[in-house]
Amino acid sequence: MMLKTVDFYYFSPTGGTKNVGESLAASLAESAILHDLSDKKTVISSPTNDLSVIALPVFGGRIPAFAAKRLRLINGEGKKSVTIVVYGNRAYEDALLELNNIAKESKFGIIASGAFVAQHSMCPEIAAGRPDNKDFKEIKNFGEEILKKLAYPPEGKAKIVEVPGNYPYKADFTVPATPISTDSCTLCRKCIAACPTGAISILENNIATDIAKCALCMACVKACPSGARILPPPMSEKIRQMLSKFKGIRRENETYI
Ligand SMILES: Cc1cc2nc3c(=O)[nH]c(=O)nc-3n(C[C@H](O)[C@H](O)[C@H](O)COP(=O)(O)O)c2cc1C
Repeated sequence: MMLKTVDFYYFSPTGGTKNVGESLAASLAESAILHDLSDKKTVISSPTNDLSVIALPVFGGRIPAFAAKRLRLINGEGKKSVTIVVYGNRAYEDALLELNNIAKESKFGIIASGAFVAQHSMCPEIAAGRPDNKDFKEIKNFGEEILKKLAYPPEGKAKIVEVPGNYPYKADFTVPATPISTDSCTLCRKCIAACPTGAISILENNIATDIAKCALCMACVKACPSGARILPPPMSEKIRQMLSKFKGIRRENETYI
């Protein structure tokens, strides 16, 4: 039976993670309370419902450090969670294990986990159009399996959700670059509002980006209404070349329950 409400925690700089997570939440409950981990203005509150969906994107085979930090502030004691990572068709490596370890530190029980594919936010021709109809069908099926597990809780070892990944994790994801603003920038400040880490400001009538704060999450690029915010073209080209081999293949979603 569908639940009444779930708490939905997410970080989704370009919308793919939110799309997958919202669709899963909709297959579990009639409504969801949204907690945007990138919202600088509000304190992230702990869940009030029995089940939370926690969805984060994969950055360099890890979860974004910024989102991990905010997730640690939530108290999930006595609550259950479904954890998912969303990645751009290359690999999710240690991200799901890292997310689950943080959820456990925050005292959540984990009843199911998954890794889902969405369009690559740095290279939109990779996994273009995903999640697609097949993905949404799989997300719905996953939701039905979770509801069954909630109705008939297993005992013993079957209760434990194991996910792939290594510890120690891959090295922290850092790239010594930031998006740039081109001459068509109108100083509308939408990039400043969108940046979850407060890395963007206006200095002497130009957009300035603090490299130490920038997570390269692409939220500013997505938010720019005039297409003036871009990755530096040499970087964009290098990423396109590195990822070109993932263009012709379709990674499938994976679920653990
Ligand atoms: C900085 C950065 C690093 C990324 N690293 C990976 C990666 O290691 N593996 C992968 O398959 N996709 C990677 N991606 C793609 C994202 O995980 C994917 O596009 C995800 O859907 C982005 O979530 P969003 O649409 O909610 O912003 C990366 C994207 C960015 C911006």
